[in-house]
Amino acid sequence: MPALAAMPAYFKQNGYKSPSHSTKGPIQYAFNTPLETYHYWQTRPEVIETFRTFMQGHFGSKHINWLEWFPLQSVIISGFSEKQSPYLFVDVGGARGNQAHNVRSKFPRAPGIVVLQDLPSVIEDGANIHRDIEKVKQNFFEENSIKGARAYFLSHILHNWPTDESVQILKNIHDVMTPGYSRILICDLILPDQGVTLREAALDLGMLTLHSGMQRSKKQWRNLIERAELRIEKFWMPPKDGDGIVQVIRDD
Ligand SMILES: C[S@@+](CC[C@H](N)C(=O)[O-])C[C@H]1O[C@@H](n2cnc3c(N)ncnc32)[C@H](O)[C@@H]1O
Repeated sequence: MPALAAMPAYFKQNGYKSPSHSTKGPIQYAFNTPLETYHYWQTRPEVIETFRTFMQGHFGSKHINWLEWFPLQSVIISGFSEKQSPYLFVDVGGARGNQAHNVRSKFPRAPGIVVLQDLPSVIEDGANIHRDIEKVKQNFFEENSIKGARAYFLSHILHNWPTDESVQILKNIHDVMTPGYSRILICDLILPDQGVTLREAALDLGMLTLHSGMQRSKKQWRNLIERAELRIEKFWMPPKDGDGIVQVIRDD
């Protein structure tokens, strides 16, 4: 049964609550699997191939490129210090590396190493990206192997996960950040607390259906970041609709 068609039965059984864990959502109910969605897709190669191509095409497209409007040079690159760490920008869960590739291509002379991280199967898939990008196998539910980088970039990651698992992903980065120096940049929708557009509501429902995830309002971002013992320095809103950037720091 397709996941959307299963929603009424799923919610009836679930007491009409948001799923609390990625292994207990509508996809798991519809496909009768105990696997979280990304792991389930790994058992369906034709699905995962289509998904990666979609991510590459959709989020690689120019009109939603955050680098068009976010001042990476002044916020991140200018404050880079080789003495802190050789790493400039870590694209966590970066899939085929579009974002890492775009950063390295736009700032070819920026100091420091740009890293692409994803699950082993994704890294082994051998994305054809800029040769100056270091590829690292990393499960983000384990402590990050790159310590003290200037920036950890989470693009379209946290909207895939319910709150507790999102806190865990953030804590695994928190633990390797250098207080006052490292930043997390979260690229996702930043919803108003009231009055979302139809598109935003549809994207929220999409994440709920596929991943037990959600899009978040400013208030929900604040709660999440506080639970990971981090602090929001700034919400960067996009010039049109689309994803914003939540700039996050570790203070202590
Ligand atoms: C929605 S895609 C986002 C890709 C990319 N950041 C972008 O914005 O184009 C989510 C990514 O998270 C990765 N992922 C899922 N579970 C993961 C895990 N436990 N550890 C590391 N990466 C994971 C997936 O392989 C996928 O590439």
